[in-house]
Amino acid sequence: MKLGVLGTGTVGQTIGGKLVALGHEVKLGSRTATNEKAAAWVKAAGRGASQGTFADAAAFGEVVFNCTSGAGTVDAARAAGEANLRGKILIDVSNALDFSKGFPPSLFTGNTDSLGEQLQRALPETKVVKSLNTVNANLMVDAGSLAGGDHDIFVSGDDAGAKARVSELLRDWFGWKNVVDLGDITTSRGVESYLALWVRLYGAVKTPQFNIKLVR
Ligand SMILES: NC(=O)c1ccc[n+]([C@@H]2O[C@H](COP(=O)([O-])OP(=O)(O)OC[C@H]3O[C@@H](n4cnc5c(N)ncnc54)[C@H](OP(=O)(O)O)[C@@H]3O)[C@@H](O)[C@H]2O)c1
Repeated sequence: MKLGVLGTGTVGQTIGGKLVALGHEVKLGSRTATNEKAAAWVKAAGRGASQGTFADAAAFGEVVFNCTSGAGTVDAARAAGEANLRGKILIDVSNALDFSKGFPPSLFTGNTDSLGEQLQRALPETKVVKSLNTVNANLMVDAGSLAGGDHDIFVSGDDAGAKARVSELLRDWFGWKNVVDLGDITTSRGVESYLALWVRLYGAVKTPQFNIKLVR
């Protein structure tokens, strides 16, 4: 497949790298077409990897990931362009972390609104599916690296077909066997607010390689 990844940080590079390793073509998007981090990633990832602007990556991808900083997510989506994302699935992994007062960060949204909803409002004709934001980047692309993959990941979104497709892709690409459909895009508030606990768990267990498992 041809995939677009908005974001040149750890998450964009990790997801992009995994998809290239699986044989897909991936374009990493940035605010500038010649971003240095993206250039280094292209060189390291090899065949199938390319870089461009947010708009270039959005136009390129059949499915697109949003891996931009929470504070820049809506601006990145606007730069990516409504037309380039129309009718497509946008998998949103962003978190609303505010590090301005150090660690642990606070959340700048998540109670009565969320980044997932803000993205969906900015891109009404795009199928936004919130997912993967509750785990560390390495775990996102390799669920099996922890507890034999027996732990949970969530999807939130207004389009049932898009969530079913994303659940399938998460299993096939990244090994996620337990995908919990939380409901419409407003359920992003739950998974984004979970970061308040995630950062405290990180402080307590001293590794980002952990996740939650639902026991009913
Ligand atoms: N790190 C993790 O393990 C992890 C886990 C779960 C969720 N997340 C979430 O995933 C997202 C990506 O995290 P990350 O650590 O890989 O990278 P990051 O440093 O949070 O974000 C980097 C990307 O955000 C873009 N960006 C920054 N400010 C912007 C602005 N004002 N307007 C438009 N774009 C802007 C940058 O653009 P340029 O390329 O132009 O510099 C870059 O592509 C974040 O929302 C984070 O909270 C991270």
